[in-house]
Amino acid sequence: MKVGIIGAGGMGRAHAMQLRQINGVEVVAVCDVDESRAKELANELNAMAFKDHRDLLSTDVDAVWVCTPDFAHKEPVIDAAAAGKHIFCEKPIANTLEDADEMVEAVTKAGVINMIGYVLRFYPTFSEVRRRFADGELGELVTAWIRRFMPWTPRDWYGDPRFSGGIAIDFSTHDVDWLMWIGGSVKCVYARTAMIGTQVENDVWAILTFANGGTGVVGDSFIAAIGGACFGIVGSNGTAMVEGDETVLVKLRSEQEVQRITPSGVNPVLAEDAYFVECVRDGKSAEPDLVWGREVLKVTIAIRQSAASNELVNF
Ligand SMILES: NC(=O)c1ccc[n+]([C@@H]2O[C@H](COP(=O)([O-])OP(=O)(O)OC[C@H]3O[C@@H](n4cnc5c(N)ncnc54)[C@H](O)[C@@H]3O)[C@@H](O)[C@H]2O)c1
Repeated sequence: MKVGIIGAGGMGRAHAMQLRQINGVEVVAVCDVDESRAKELANELNAMAFKDHRDLLSTDVDAVWVCTPDFAHKEPVIDAAAAGKHIFCEKPIANTLEDADEMVEAVTKAGVINMIGYVLRFYPTFSEVRRRFADGELGELVTAWIRRFMPWTPRDWYGDPRFSGGIAIDFSTHDVDWLMWIGGSVKCVYARTAMIGTQVENDVWAILTFANGGTGVVGDSFIAAIGGACFGIVGSNGTAMVEGDETVLVKLRSEQEVQRITPSGVNPVLAEDAYFVECVRDGKSAEPDLVWGREVLKVTIAIRQSAASNELVNF
């Protein structure tokens, strides 16, 4: 399978380094508007370098990894779909629903296999907690929560309000995807955000009400001075959660003992890339796809709207 990387920054490089380890996959082309970046990565991979993604798309690649900044996913995705290439697109799908709609229309019309890079799903702890719920062990959903603190000052396009959707759209998109993977579609949102030392929101807390019952809670901060994460699910029959390390704690209400499980797994980026490669090879649709990515974007936009208006946003 021949692959092209569009956007040779941090994530383009990260995917290229994992893809080259997958049997039968060859990264044959790299593109970046900053040609020196394209050339540097292409040289390491012994691949062709391009400045314009349309030139990359005219080569013999089967699939592309779109790793451009959030605001620049649309054009490469639409052009790749028109060229009949399968598409892995980094999260979030886009910053606006208008862009997302055009992208969804393009991949649907072209019938190409497509996926959004919601990598939390490929962390063994996140997938194990979710599996316990999906298998019915925890009972009905009461609350699913996720809190991630990452001390960081958004730089370049991440810190520029013209190009960035702030912490909710860029970062919490992962968390909202994970919560919706558990709880399904969201019927209303209430949120608060803060902005300190930057021009984009860098702290967010939100409560989601799921259409099928249960609550989702997300809290993310770049302002927090201490990093780390915790997440979990309280169900009517039991709880599964992770508190800062790689151990999943599970306890059913009917049991005395807490089970402690350390699930094993490979590098999550390798796991997600290998999964998409497998989907393309087998001709089967991938999850989460761009249609789902648009639903997650709808919720993260509502988080910003709720915070700005101090009102509940209903769908
Ligand atoms: N899954 C994750 O955990 C994770 C982590 C970080 C970033 N991301 C996502 O990955 C994407 C890239 O983020 P990054 O941190 O690598 O950004 P980056 O700024 O490091 O790299 C982006 C690259 O894309 C290039 N570029 C911009 N417009 C282009 C275009 N039209 N055609 C070709 N190249 C173009 C830029 O020159 C830059 O080299 C973003 O969507 C981001 O949200 C995902």
